[in-house]
Amino acid sequence: MQSLPALLDARLRALTGVDPEMRPATKPQFGHFQSNVALRLAKQQGRPPREVAADLVAQLDVEDLCEPLEIAGPGFINFRMRSDVLARAVSSLLEDPNDGLNPARFPQRVVIDYSAPNVAKQMHVGHLRTTIIGDCFNRVLSALGNTVIAQNHIGDWGTQFGMLIEEVLDEGLDVRTLTLADADALYKRAAAKFKSDEEFAARARARVATFQGGDEESLAIWRGLVDISKPAFNVAYERLNVLLTDDDIAGESTYNDDLPVLVKELEDSGVAVVDNGALCVFVDGFDAPLIVRKSDGGYGYATTDLAAIRRRVRELHADRIIYVTDARQAGHFAQVFAAARKAGFLPDDVVAQHVGYGMVLGRDGKPFKTRDGSAATLESLLDAAEEQAAPNIALAAIKYADLSNGLQKDYTFDAERMVQTTGDTGPYLQYAHARVSQILRKAEAEDIHFGAVTVLADPVEQQLALLLSRFGEVVDDVAQNLTPHKLCGYLYDLAGSLASFYEACPVLKLEGDVRASRLALCEATRRVLAAGLSLLGIDAPARM
Ligand code: ARG
Repeated sequence: MQSLPALLDARLRALTGVDPEMRPATKPQFGHFQSNVALRLAKQQGRPPREVAADLVAQLDVEDLCEPLEIAGPGFINFRMRSDVLARAVSSLLEDPNDGLNPARFPQRVVIDYSAPNVAKQMHVGHLRTTIIGDCFNRVLSALGNTVIAQNHIGDWGTQFGMLIEEVLDEGLDVRTLTLADADALYKRAAAKFKSDEEFAARARARVATFQGGDEESLAIWRGLVDISKPAFNVAYERLNVLLTDDDIAGESTYNDDLPVLVKELEDSGVAVVDNGALCVFVDGFDAPLIVRKSDGGYGYATTDLAAIRRRVRELHADRIIYVTDARQAGHFAQVFAAARKAGFLPDDVVAQHVGYGMVLGRDGKPFKTRDGSAATLESLLDAAEEQAAPNIALAAIKYADLSNGLQKDYTFDAERMVQTTGDTGPYLQYAHARVSQILRKAEAEDIHFGAVTVLADPVEQQLALLLSRFGEVVDDVAQNLTPHKLCGYLYDLAGSLASFYEACPVLKLEGDVRASRLALCEATRRVLAAGLSLLGIDAPARM
């Protein structure tokens, strides 16, 4: 459904040829929207603004949408939507199986690369963010009819396995008996030894080559570490209620056999050249080249990402590829995309986007730490939120705090504030949904029937209806620009508008048409709240 404000905007734009800059009216007596376009045109044309406004009002054909237009003050044009138009918009939403979402006109195949924890390491708060954000993108793009292919690019291959395997052999461990927390501790012991013990470091480096060269003993240890890590990741995904499964795992090791082939392609085409013993791709605008094969013959993180892009285009037939990682990897992806374009792995008609997110901070403004001062794991953060509220509310609090801020910004993890049912929080939206559900439940219990929205006399009802008409447009914007905070802001406004409606407009106390119409308005609001929350990955309870 095209939103009513968007329809009006389009007509005024067609008439004037400029952006009408429609703004919500500042006072109810000014109608629903105001435009200052006449003032701007008057300046250009050197004419009195009220005269320009009068001309526009005479020429603008919006009788089917608006009450007669009014000119206010120095030359503002005021628009008030006709209440029958608002009523019809809400009624059609009630009949729409898509709850007002606009199915994509050209559905795409969208690869989303998110979560991507590392084997033998616990997930940290950064992984919490990518998992929640990627899950939201997945839900939004799928809801609009795109084919989403989630790719969990887990770190299951890099050079860290050299020291891990050496440490396992030194300690004589059977890795299959370890928990992920044990493996994490092992990782830390290995890393410390790698730093302090040169003989160990040399063995670890040599082990990378033996292991990547296919040595069975090394591979068995590696497999063991992968096998204990995956179920632990799944426990976290279940706890987070996200869509990822084992089927979405395509870790770094997936591309192992592709690497020499890809590198040969790059060499043959002349895209990669040897520089100081390393094979490099030089891309404009970057100080250092992208190294596709190190001088010792090894391949790194960037080469694997080139291989992943190549497959996502050639085999997964992606039209759009989205990466969700912390903002510090922005440079890496910019260079990988540029190199992939140069190599022809990433054709011009395939969009590649990196969405970088900021850090999770504690109340002290420093990176969030657990009470004992160690870097916070994803689990410790969930535990902290669950100390404040029931799991589904704690989770709503975390997801909303993560998505509502503008992804690039750091956000402060303040469990006590985030779980409040007042203010701009996830639980506040859940509560709005539960409260409106309760009214509808009572109506059902009293056998009160309702159908369409027929009367919308009160200005607060009209505001609510206007907002409801905008849902589809807001979600389109999120899908296009990957800005979940706009959906959060919209739902927050919707819940606020619903609260004003309760204050001004009795529902169950009334009878007849007005009551039925208001119940229909409640039902439409409930549906949009539930649909919107579900796109954020947040559960919408019927009772709280
Ligand atoms: N494993 C990496 C990390 O924990 C993230 C991988 C992101 N995806 C990618 N294709 N590079 O930081």
